Amino acid sequence: MADKKPMPVHVAVIMDGNGRWAELNKVTKLQGHNQGMWAMKEIIKKSDVMGIKYLTVYAFSTENWKRSQEEVGGIFRLLVKFVGSELQELDDNNVKVNILGDWHDKLPEDAKASVQKALDTTKDNTGLVFNIALNYGSRAEIVRAVNFIMTHYDPSTEISEEDISRALYTGDENGNIPDPDLIIRTSGEERLSNFLLWQAAYSEFAFTDTLWPDFTPEEYESMIEEYRTRERRYGGR
Ligand code: FPP
Repeated sequence: MADKKPMPVHVAVIMDGNGRWAELNKVTKLQGHNQGMWAMKEIIKKSDVMGIKYLTVYAFSTENWKRSQEEVGGIFRLLVKFVGSELQELDDNNVKVNILGDWHDKLPEDAKASVQKALDTTKDNTGLVFNIALNYGSRAEIVRAVNFIMTHYDPSTEISEEDISRALYTGDENGNIPDPDLIIRTSGEERLSNFLLWQAAYSEFAFTDTLWPDFTPEEYESMIEEYRTRERRYGGR
């Protein structure tokens, strides 16, 4: 057997294909997102069992506001439902929830309350760190970091890469999450779509044609095992 490399510490997932799954299965788009939410739950559990330390999911991008009001409202209702039915189990399993993105402003009030509850309940947990990218866009994140630095640093300071990393959502405010080792995208699309642009500098990528609601823990595990056969070079030899 070929030498297996270490497990990824941080896996990030672009959960794509809920809409196409709904069309294929002749159900509403919201039912597709609902099915996607249960797929997400299984991937959280599997990440924990496999000993992955950080899991980040792209749940709602800054561009997703362009979708119909019905769909946007439905996704946030799913978030409320998810927290309502799953928070206890996440907490029992020592999972810590973080939000990456600007969730204080545009979200419906009940969604904000659910987010606050999830953060408060799990803040001292030390197991799997589950990051939900919510109202997240990577360019906006970088702009926000630059503005933070401009207002908090002396103008004569020479800014380092570490300063920028620390000012991102993945930085100081969420415990300095390491950059993702592996980024998975489902549904056959092979784009980053404004997700973790800075953090993905040395990430490995894995793609599958499977639509997100059909993505199983078994396929996830096999993608991780495939990742573990790769030689990572970080630009060196
Ligand atoms: C992409 O599929 C998926 C989304 C934009 C939403 C992801 C949401 C969930 C998985 C469930 C909700 C989870 C939380 C935490 C709220 P798409 O609609 O772009 O699929 P398509 O490209 O086939 O249309």
